Amino acid sequence: MDRSAVAKVGAVASAGVCALFGGVVLAQYIFTKKKRAARKTKIIDMMPQFEKSTVHIRNPEYVEEIICSLIKGGASKLQIITDFDRTLSRFSNNGQRCPTCHNIIDNCKLVTDDCKKQLLKLKEKYYPIEIDPHLPMEEKFHFMVEWYFKSHTLLVEQRLQKDKLPEVVRESEVCLRDGYEQFFDRLHQHDVPVFIFSAGLGDVLEEIIRQAGVYHPNIKVVSNFMDFDESGILKGFKGDLIHVYNKHDGALKNSDYFKQLKDNCNIILLGDSLGDLNMADGVPNVESILKIGYLNDEVDDQLEKYLDSYDIVLVRDETLEVPNSILQKIL
Ligand code: TMP
Ligand code: MG
Repeated sequence: MDRSAVAKVGAVASAGVCALFGGVVLAQYIFTKKKRAARKTKIIDMMPQFEKSTVHIRNPEYVEEIICSLIKGGASKLQIITDFDRTLSRFSNNGQRCPTCHNIIDNCKLVTDDCKKQLLKLKEKYYPIEIDPHLPMEEKFHFMVEWYFKSHTLLVEQRLQKDKLPEVVRESEVCLRDGYEQFFDRLHQHDVPVFIFSAGLGDVLEEIIRQAGVYHPNIKVVSNFMDFDESGILKGFKGDLIHVYNKHDGALKNSDYFKQLKDNCNIILLGDSLGDLNMADGVPNVESILKIGYLNDEVDDQLEKYLDSYDIVLVRDETLEVPNSILQKIL
């Protein structure tokens, strides 16, 4: 072959390589564009609230599917089952821990310093057990019963006055999560039933949401309610104890409520403890359930477990933005 022929073959070959390369680049460009376009058709990809670094999801396809069925069902099929402390209320505010319902009483002026010390000691012993990711739930159970028994006994000894509770709540540092007005008001507007299922103190909880102006008629509170004598002094607690790890029989114990809601077969469950995952156990006729979990504390140790159990995990997120964004799509 002469030199010009070699040059021709060379030119043809390099043009071929260029064309091939161009083709690959073009194909890749079209593929990525298509993929992006396809991704953007997903609801959760179109919601900016899901782009926050606090949002963790193990199975986005599943979450997408559930949200789509919640949207399809609309207001008439929806109900909310939610925990209170550190789920509707904040875990922290400006770096300061916020109180639970119990903590509001523990730290108030009605309780003696000696009792405060004893309650703090109990918290230091039992709270690490409550959140220990390595201890099975069944083993935590009796520790929780012990904690509640001891702490409630101390509170009864303090002879707390019922009529002082509003003042105690007003003077406390309790704080609902950002976006709570929107959350409660929208659910009220659309008449969506809200079951607040709390192992806190019912009287304190009700006072918090009353003072926040969001205790609407669509809300039912199930919690540990104080029992006062005829002069308004605490003498004990009403009904069966609710602690963090016995929420699985809540639906059974409130079967009249849930029977009435048999057509509300789509549930959004909100919690912050692994015990809260069982709050909807025994609810009849469930079609779709979306479980949203707030992970507030010991994040590195707990994230894996939370991701295994909750559909959406909100890590150190002090807002209701994600639940609100989902409600906005449904309602
Ligand atoms: P929740 O079910 O609404 O989250 O309320 C239960 C929380 O209350 C749970 O995190 C444990 C906490 N708690 C206290 O803070 N102090 C106590 O004395 C007791 C018994 C529980
Ligand atoms: Mg809680």
